[in-house]
Amino acid sequence: MRKPVIAGNWKMYKTRGEAVAFIEELKPRIANVEHCDVIVAPPFTALAEAAQTAKGSKVGIAAQDVHWDAEGAHTGDVSPGMLLDAGCSHVIIGHSERRHDHGETDEQVNRKLKAALAAGLTPIVCVGETLEEREGGQTQKVLERQFLGGFAGLTPPEFSRIMMAYEPVWAIGTGRTATPELAAESHAFLRNLARRQFGDEQANAVRILYGGSVKPQNVAGLMAQEEIDGALVGGASLSVESFLAIINYPSA
Ligand code: PGA
Repeated sequence: MRKPVIAGNWKMYKTRGEAVAFIEELKPRIANVEHCDVIVAPPFTALAEAAQTAKGSKVGIAAQDVHWDAEGAHTGDVSPGMLLDAGCSHVIIGHSERRHDHGETDEQVNRKLKAALAAGLTPIVCVGETLEEREGGQTQKVLERQFLGGFAGLTPPEFSRIMMAYEPVWAIGTGRTATPELAAESHAFLRNLARRQFGDEQANAVRILYGGSVKPQNVAGLMAQEEIDGALVGGASLSVESFLAIINYPSA
């Protein structure tokens, strides 16, 4: 059984104070949640205080990006060791906004992923096609390229330490969610790639989250799909009430 994961990607939202207030409010309200893992990804500036506030609770803390070097002349970047030092357990890698705003390539995703694993962080690796690619019938080709490039050179034991997120770019922040069936189809495709590259055990165990306009109203339908093991939530993770409603999807 794959334990579901509900992760909130805050993107470039929330000051330190707002992040701390959010986690303080969330903590007691998920104290009895056993059915899923809960993660939030604050911006870099709020990571340390968010992690301090989350300590000893069920809230895991993820960074939104990482550099592959341990240190060096990389203005604006943050290393895996710095994320650990700030109290992170997870890191999002290859989010489509990084790929599109910063030209991040599959090769860079791969380097970041290996560095994060070596440091002991749990990577959440994002893949997904654009609208143009979907409409051009390229979805599987794009996912395969991102998968093979992003996970190149990983051993099966390394692969077993990652999570994936399928985030169709056309569904991110647009209010246009993939139907549960359509998302599940891509998840199954990704799981088959994992089977081919890393074997049955790894493919059956890897948790694949869906991301793209997940809301309290649509989360239960998505989570009802056998192939969907969780959600990576952007906009709807910014308020405690809607994030909690998503976490509590089994009682929706
Ligand atoms: P969204 O973002 O839920 O606001 O669509 C999801 C994501 O980009 O991770």
